[in-house]
Amino acid sequence: TDKEMKARITEIKTKLGNDLFIPGHHYQKDEVIQFADSSGDSLQLAQVSAKQSARMIVFCGVHFMAETADILTADYQRVILPDLRAGCSMADMANDLQTDEAWEALQGMFSDTILPLTYVNSTASIKAFVGRNGGATVTSSNAKKMVKWALDQKERLLFLPDQHLGRNTAYDLGIRLDEMAVWDPIQRKLVYEGDYQHIKVILWKGHCSVHENFTVENIKQIREKQPDMNIIVHPECSHEVVQKADYAGSTKYIIETIERAEAGSEWAIGTEMNLVNRLRKKNPDKNITSLNPYMCPCLTMNRIDLPHLLWVLEELVQGNICNEIKVEKSIANEAKIALDRMLRLS
Ligand code: 13P
Ligand code: SF4
Repeated sequence: TDKEMKARITEIKTKLGNDLFIPGHHYQKDEVIQFADSSGDSLQLAQVSAKQSARMIVFCGVHFMAETADILTADYQRVILPDLRAGCSMADMANDLQTDEAWEALQGMFSDTILPLTYVNSTASIKAFVGRNGGATVTSSNAKKMVKWALDQKERLLFLPDQHLGRNTAYDLGIRLDEMAVWDPIQRKLVYEGDYQHIKVILWKGHCSVHENFTVENIKQIREKQPDMNIIVHPECSHEVVQKADYAGSTKYIIETIERAEAGSEWAIGTEMNLVNRLRKKNPDKNITSLNPYMCPCLTMNRIDLPHLLWVLEELVQGNICNEIKVEKSIANEAKIALDRMLRLS
């Protein structure tokens, strides 16, 4: 039963003590997050992992986050992902072959005037590509700072793999939509009407399959029926949605905004279901709902559950490392350059 599993996890955690560290992303289920030694957004989890000395890190989040934790920790530390199927469809939208092809084409068009940036929601080898070409990683908490940093160095940037975070951030910095182009990795071409020399930002054509479910139509319905509702969304939502919302920011920003809000205030939130439900439970004095009435779960985040967490912990107490995430050394070294550039500036 759940009760037995919870008791056993508590027992194992006590037994392993400081040898074990469990980071948990805000999108994780309540049944998992209750065991997290630290919960946070992607930036906080990267920062906390980098400072860890525990020998065993059981990462409750998705694959790219566990890779990041492995890259930022020492060789003796082992990173474990309780279910290896916990990937991220956005991270899978950019691979090595595609970035090499894009980079060659873009260098041909713009020569050495582009700096690549990648959202941390990307594979370690994409981070390595960015690291060896002078760029850095970004998260939704520091995207504005990092895009500004990139544009202080080069005339233009290539933003991987989330076109929405890239577009929303660049727009916030005063870059016009007609100064942004999209690289389509499937059609293998740059989508832009006009003179290429006006392009400042090249957006990789990737997106989050959870956040694309929040639509302008959802906002229209709420504005009509509940005009007092505040609408807050994650910047992985489309530009139109972010523009029509009242507030936009990372999961940490969403949590802080709701916690600070007045009692009795009404909120429609455009982000992953587990976080929306948790905010609703923790803020009973506020009226909280999902911007999309059907709720939007991240299926891969949700693959981490009590049985998987317990299973890897049971193996650990017996000295077995299951589901280890180990990034190949040469990739890890270059990816670390990109992550360190971000962590230094954050
Ligand atoms: P943040 O927690 O950084 O806002 O990221 C959201 C997300 O999609 C993680 O996969
Ligand atoms: Fe990936 Fe979107 Fe899930 Fe985050 S919410 S892990 S970006 S699919």
